[in-house]
Amino acid sequence: MGRTIQILLLSCVLGIFSCVPSLAQDCASYSFSKNQVYTTCASLPVLSSFLHWTLHPSNNTVDVAFRRSGSAASNWIAWGLNPSGQRMAGTQALIAYRFSNGSVRAYTSSITASPTMLQSNLSFEVPSLTAEYTNGDMIIHATLQLNSNLLSTNQVWQEGPVTSDNPGQHAMASANMQAVGSINFQSGATTAGSNSRAKKRNVHGVLNAVSWGILMPLGIIIARYLKVFKSAGPAWFYLHVGCQISAYAIGVAGWGTGLKLGSDSPGVKYDKHRNLGITLFCLATLQVFALLLRPKPENKYRMYWNFYHWSIGYSTIILSIINIYEGFDILNPEKKWKRAYTGVLIFLAAVAAVLEATTWMIVLNRKKTEDSHLKHVNGNNSRQAV
Ligand SMILES: *[C@@H]1O[C@H](CO)[C@@H](O)[C@H](O)[C@H]1NC(C)=O
Ligand SMILES: *[C@@H]1O[C@H](CO)[C@@H](O)[C@H](O)[C@H]1NC(C)=O
Ligand SMILES: *[C@@H]1O[C@H](CO)[C@@H](O)[C@H](O)[C@H]1NC(C)=O
Repeated sequence: MGRTIQILLLSCVLGIFSCVPSLAQDCASYSFSKNQVYTTCASLPVLSSFLHWTLHPSNNTVDVAFRRSGSAASNWIAWGLNPSGQRMAGTQALIAYRFSNGSVRAYTSSITASPTMLQSNLSFEVPSLTAEYTNGDMIIHATLQLNSNLLSTNQVWQEGPVTSDNPGQHAMASANMQAVGSINFQSGATTAGSNSRAKKRNVHGVLNAVSWGILMPLGIIIARYLKVFKSAGPAWFYLHVGCQISAYAIGVAGWGTGLKLGSDSPGVKYDKHRNLGITLFCLATLQVFALLLRPKPENKYRMYWNFYHWSIGYSTIILSIINIYEGFDILNPEKKWKRAYTGVLIFLAAVAAVLEATTWMIVLNRKKTEDSHLKHVNGNNSRQAV
């Protein structure tokens, strides 16, 4: 009995030890299919990627293996060096993907501002380049003939879909945007990128969702429903103007960050989102002027002004919501953000529906009392006339 337990314990311990290498397989002890050995390995911060390499200091050549573990068979992968910065444009890239017939293509591409990913020579020689797809890992093997200033530089990596045997545009999710960093082939040090662009995109998203997407509809709800309560007096007007002016200020700031993002990334175009944004800015600016040019309530033109103000107001809200969802598709943040915004919209719509019903009740009631009051007065009159 005691012996059985001992054997069980021993096999447990052995089992755990045999597990350890497979856990550590992620980097240094990963065994390549052709037993290639690299002296250094770095686990990259996003996209489940690893860079293995061996530097030959005598002639500045580096043997590298870029590995994307758990890669979809239908994805392309790319890794490259970019001495000009931690960004896509300027990257001297190695690219690999599988053809639909199963064979793997590996080639070099010097990425420009408009990323065609067509084959081209790099700024340095690549004497050997192959790629393989094994057990769900896509791996590029290459030898790079570097000059000394490329021994410590920036690295960029990426993945994206392949359609009809050609690489397509990669997603803009935060992991894709964070796939930059620095690499020192000599010391083995790698750092994650500063990633200021991803931060700017989030700031842009939050500013615009709050201003155009929440404050402005709220301002319309205030104007439409608070007006009915006579006790609220002119308060609704000041609340409405205050809400819309702050929404406009925040919205213009958000709009500016969008223009900056656009000018910072030549070659990446979101025409629909951009044009809607510019239209929205014009419509909202018209509304601010409408406020200044508003005729007095008793003025005979006030009716036309109201029609103008309301139609532009409602168009702005509808276009804003469309553009915010466009933005969600571009930014592709975690699902919860889109859900949270949809939740806020549903809440505002529910509040508006309840207030709309209440308003109708109040207005009808008011009318009824006024009517009966009139009838009463008429009745008295007729009696008097008799
Ligand atoms: C560079 O040096 C290494 C080791 O010294 C050698 O194996 C390799 O063939 C050399 N490469 C070139 C391109 O000279
Ligand atoms: C697979 O398809 C590609 C592109 O169509 C072609 O270049 C390659 O030779 C094919 N490979 C095999 C093994 O048929
Ligand atoms: C690319 O490099 C190869 C080898 O160095 C050379 O033969 C070829 O002409 C180059 N192609 C272009 C377009 O420069």
